[in-house]
Amino acid sequence: EGNKLWGGRFVGSMDPIMEKFNASISYDQRMWDADIRGSKAYVKALHKAKLVTQEEMAQIQGGLEKVLGEWCSGTFQIKPGDEDIHTANERRLKELIGEAAGKLHTGRSRNDQVVTDMRLWLRDAITTLKGNTIQLITTMVERAAVEINILFPGYTHMQRAQPIRWSHWILSHAVALSRDVEQLEEIRKRVNVLPLGSGAIAGNPFNIDRELLRKELDFEGISINSMDATGQRDFVAEFLFWGSMCLMHLSKMAEDLILYSTKEFSFITLSDAYSTGSSLMPQKKNADSLELIRSKAGRVFGRCAGFMMVLKGLPSTYNKDLQEDKEAMFDIYDSLHAVLQVATGVISTLEVNQKAMEAALSPDMLATDLAYYLVRKGMPFREAHSCSGKAVHQAESKGVPLNRLTVEDLRTASPLFDNDVSSVWDYTSSVEQYTAPGGTARSSVTGQIEHMRAWLKVH
Ligand code: ARG
Repeated sequence: EGNKLWGGRFVGSMDPIMEKFNASISYDQRMWDADIRGSKAYVKALHKAKLVTQEEMAQIQGGLEKVLGEWCSGTFQIKPGDEDIHTANERRLKELIGEAAGKLHTGRSRNDQVVTDMRLWLRDAITTLKGNTIQLITTMVERAAVEINILFPGYTHMQRAQPIRWSHWILSHAVALSRDVEQLEEIRKRVNVLPLGSGAIAGNPFNIDRELLRKELDFEGISINSMDATGQRDFVAEFLFWGSMCLMHLSKMAEDLILYSTKEFSFITLSDAYSTGSSLMPQKKNADSLELIRSKAGRVFGRCAGFMMVLKGLPSTYNKDLQEDKEAMFDIYDSLHAVLQVATGVISTLEVNQKAMEAALSPDMLATDLAYYLVRKGMPFREAHSCSGKAVHQAESKGVPLNRLTVEDLRTASPLFDNDVSSVWDYTSSVEQYTAPGGTARSSVTGQIEHMRAWLKVH
């Protein structure tokens, strides 16, 4: 075990199964860039603390540059015994520059190194995911603007509720995603705190300039307590929760669209680009893109819950359990990165079947409007609700649509009904009542679109 970076006190060798079990290099190698950035900054701080000479610093930096080059060109060779990205990079540095490499880790521990790498990596990942989410929201808002005229049934409890604008539905999902973006921005602030200079647990004994490290690595602040800095993974848990919440939103949207794309609804047709066929039934066109979006929510929730269970009850400071943080973090990133792009593709290419949407509206969905008609004639709403309910019942027993009841029929429910009741049976004027901010009237939906466009400008 002489070549292990921590091998000094060991005489026996490691069981190969344990070696594999312990190693994280297969997945944490994704942080090669962050790891080298961290080391380049650290060597500057070491120089300032007079722990390496100018010459040694130049040697180490030159060596790190070469290691970086190998990763960039895909020629970096992972060797047996490379436990993780930190040991692999340092092993290679030593091969390239010799003994001076041994000074790089002075006062540093993999405990502060690994969280520094993760925070650097996640910071960039968050920027990418934010861009993906913004792209999706932009697509949705623009689609809502173009299709503002289209009406279709709104559902609650999956029962036909009230006529709404199709754009109103689109915006309802876009607004949820805008909260996800805001949450991501909040999380980024808490990710953007530098732990380097915390050592393994106790801090740094060489008066390392953490402010210099912060500036070099472009962090917003430095961690306050070395034990907390190395032992906490709140920023990972928050990110996993963010992914769960965002996918919860997307899975709900996917579920609506899957339903709307069935022959029974026929509200929308998915583009071939985001559908698949059946190997057995030639007529099938399946919404696999949306089903996978829906399913990724389950996968991502599992990662979040699983990692929370890893954290629960751990003794303070670093424990190897924490190594589980990375696969969860990468998986959430990969899942969301894919899902957001596919969702953007689905939304931008789906076809809306306006005729089918409007044909699906039915007079019973105007029962609320019938009650409002009476309210406008001075009747208290509770009573009006009951009168309209009676009319619904009457129509059902006669086997006619609600709008086919005569004024005489309606008068048995309330004497306030008059010939002008015919104005109720119009879907456009129905939606146009909802002018309060947030509603489905054209003016209100336009207001939402303007709000979202302004929001997009500042995000
Ligand atoms: N690969 C380790 C991880 O991901 C790095 C930190 C190891 N630290 C230690 N004290 N064993 O957590």
